[in-house]
Amino acid sequence: MEAHLLEWLNLTLRWVHVIVGIAWIGASFYFVWLENNLDRQVKNEELAGELWAIHGGGIYHLQKYNLAPKTMPKHLHWFKWEAYSSWISGVLLLSVVYYLNAATYLILPGSPVSPAAGVAIGLGSLLVGWYVYDLLCKSPLRHQPLLLGVALMLFLVATAWGFSQFMTGRAAYLHVGAIIGTMMVGNVFFIIMPAQRNLVGAIEAGTTPDPALPKNGLLRSRHNNYLTLPVIFIMVSSHYPSTYGHEWGWAILLGLSLISVAVRHYFNTRHNGQQFVWALPAAVLALLVMAYVTVPKAPQASAKSTPGEVPVSSDQAYAIVAAHCAACHSATPSHAAFSTAPGGVMFDTIEEIKRAKDRIYSQSVASHIMPLGNSTEMTQDERDLLGRWIANGANVK
Ligand code: HEC
Repeated sequence: MEAHLLEWLNLTLRWVHVIVGIAWIGASFYFVWLENNLDRQVKNEELAGELWAIHGGGIYHLQKYNLAPKTMPKHLHWFKWEAYSSWISGVLLLSVVYYLNAATYLILPGSPVSPAAGVAIGLGSLLVGWYVYDLLCKSPLRHQPLLLGVALMLFLVATAWGFSQFMTGRAAYLHVGAIIGTMMVGNVFFIIMPAQRNLVGAIEAGTTPDPALPKNGLLRSRHNNYLTLPVIFIMVSSHYPSTYGHEWGWAILLGLSLISVAVRHYFNTRHNGQQFVWALPAAVLALLVMAYVTVPKAPQASAKSTPGEVPVSSDQAYAIVAAHCAACHSATPSHAAFSTAPGGVMFDTIEEIKRAKDRIYSQSVASHIMPLGNSTEMTQDERDLLGRWIANGANVK
């Protein structure tokens, strides 16, 4: 019952998180697009630019002010709860998925870091990440966007590597995503909103707003625009075991992040020319290279039975899976954390096992992703036996 309630809590939080995340990032993409596409030849002195657009059957006319209109409009729309609610629902979801069952989901089997310490490090890293990023933005590097980007990337890669020393691959990825998401929401809360409040306050008081604040706000919102793409990949990364489950998972994450930032940069600059168009073919090439480097190791020659050796029988294979997997992967799981088979994957009969042989191979032989947290203490010998049975055709007698 408890497992079932948790599943629905997970469902609700994830649903909300995705919806508010779309609202946040959608608005963010839209305003960056607007900024990039403003017609700046506009005659009106007060205006920085304007734009005409058609959408949903109607024509819109938008104008951006140089700083502020002389009088405040009656209704000014703010965009902040999209960001805050994304962060709040995200941290709650992180807690439900990784912290409530930290021994299994968060911590690598055999790690000296205790689950409680892992949770503390995970949550603490969100704060540390924000302070490191904010310090970088206030350091002399702020005049060197490229160097700032490189420094930030190095910090995040070091974090991903550090986490992968004691966290499961999935948890390490997700924490890097949560750190970046926290940087983004920190930008909204600590930089962009105060700048906007100052602007609006000045207009209402009839004084001149400080132009440095909105400028900084715009810069941070640009940062957010670039940071969004890696975050979105990380949020869906748990579907791709060949990334987080790879022994160089942190490097794969770096590669995918670089690709996404380069592609984003091309789209952000293409109205000024095609200078960065090389980013598109380079991204495709880099994706192909990464797909190649992450190919699961093929069954080694020694995994195949040599003549004279007794082949692994389906009974042996079944016994291994029954002992190490079926507590969770069954129509009626006996594991307390699951009320239904995780991922819909069930191994109740040898036929079901045979049908899933390739997935079993990638999860439990080529990598050690399953059993989850190696909670059932599967040995290397057992993995090898299972691997040999699969490599020799997964025969069911
Ligand atoms: C403690 C519970 C548990 C045990 C034991 C366990 N698994 Fe899993 N398994 C999970 C969970 C949870 C998921 C879903 C992961 C996710 O959310 O994507 C999963 C997913 C899978 C998937 C699907 C992955 C995919 O998305 O393609 C396969 C295949 C799998 N497990 C195989 C195994 C094998 C083989 C064993 C035994 C050697 C095993 N599991 C043992 C909990 C377990």
